[in-house]
Amino acid sequence: MPATVSIHGQWSTRLAFVLAATGSAVGLGNIWRFPYIAGDNGGGAFVLVYLACILLIGLPIMMGEILLGRRGRQSPINTMLTLAREEGLSRSWGLMGWIGVLAGFLILSFYSVIAGWALAYVFKAGTGSFSGLDAEGSAEVFGAMLANPEGLLAWHTIFMVMTAMVVARGVRSGLERAVTILMPALVVLLIVLVGYSMAQGAFMDGLRFLFQPDFTALSPNAVLLAMGQAFFTLSLGMGAIMVYGSYLSSEASIAKTSGSVVAADTVVALLAGLAIFPILFAAGLSPEQGPGLIFVTLPLAFGEMPFGVFFGTLFFVLLVFAAWTSAISLIEPAVAFMVENLQLNRVFATTVVAMLAWTLGIAALLSLNVWSDYTLFDRGVLDILDYLTANILLPLGGFLIALFVGWRMTERSVQSELRLTLGGIYTVWYFLVRYVAPIAILLVFLRAVGLI
Ligand code: PHE
Repeated sequence: MPATVSIHGQWSTRLAFVLAATGSAVGLGNIWRFPYIAGDNGGGAFVLVYLACILLIGLPIMMGEILLGRRGRQSPINTMLTLAREEGLSRSWGLMGWIGVLAGFLILSFYSVIAGWALAYVFKAGTGSFSGLDAEGSAEVFGAMLANPEGLLAWHTIFMVMTAMVVARGVRSGLERAVTILMPALVVLLIVLVGYSMAQGAFMDGLRFLFQPDFTALSPNAVLLAMGQAFFTLSLGMGAIMVYGSYLSSEASIAKTSGSVVAADTVVALLAGLAIFPILFAAGLSPEQGPGLIFVTLPLAFGEMPFGVFFGTLFFVLLVFAAWTSAISLIEPAVAFMVENLQLNRVFATTVVAMLAWTLGIAALLSLNVWSDYTLFDRGVLDILDYLTANILLPLGGFLIALFVGWRMTERSVQSELRLTLGGIYTVWYFLVRYVAPIAILLVFLRAVGLI
């Protein structure tokens, strides 16, 4: 019989879990990554594929991942080993946990660098450096930041220490409360920005760009990117949601919980897009700005709107918080594993993982300046880390989750954990995890490498 409570603790309420999982999901992926990838890939059609991936692949796999975590009640590696044993399956399922730990560590290394940009922008906004800025000036401010490795290193270090401090104290302390106030505040601020975009930006152009699909502009690789973005933004496929699920009480409804998390995450991403593109088009910029997109466009709005210094500072502060609550979930699976298997204490385990990710993060930030000539397939270190994790490791993890839940676990175990009384929802979900999600992931992979 699996344990009913994890040794690492348990969320006080179902709402606490929803908040923590939302905190993990909502982050740089929604506000920094979604707009820039959508911008680079032609908008409309990309957004539509992304939304389809969220609904048909992301949501069912999130339910699967929570289900596994709650049943196993341990770090993802040990959860998979326990569940495989329970079902009489091979120990190699433990590998799935290892892939997740690796993915989390790789993501954290560059995530902390980008969160460092947001930290730097808190101070730029606060000191009024955006006032009267035009598009060219804004691009210069951003470029100057990237060209300064010492500055980037300082912010990256600060963010990594912030992350490690929370994880070292355990997932429950303080965090539950922080998310309750900060997430809604972020949403309110995004709505303010959308309001500004409606009044001052080229709102119709932005709307058309985001929602008018032009499928001729959609490359097979863009489909892979849309799927990767769906996994990245929902924190799926690497054990973060699994480990949070392991702290969820047995009574909570997995379906309802997943639905809330997915809805909140999607709303934030779409609001970010609605805020950013009208400002961008009004400034005559091209949507293909790459990773600098929000850092080049948003200062234009903050530099012009009334109380721009206040709103700008607040926005980047909230962005840092959103990134923070995501970053902690990136190392939690590794830390939980080290505590379980190496009998390390939390503080020490966290320090080790954070230091390793910090070191790799230095390579990522140097790839923006001194090492910019070192590339592989035209990509620098940061780019490679981002591409490899979001588009390959996370979907691979998701594929394995779908296989395990849909094909290897007995339906009795699945049902006893999910306890969906509504027959219809269960049938649809089971069909999605068994067939739609794994087949779709496989097809997108094959198509992206040109095999079909
Ligand atoms: N979902 C987070 C974001 O959108 C990133 C993340 C990915 C966090 C994977 C945990 C695991 O920013």
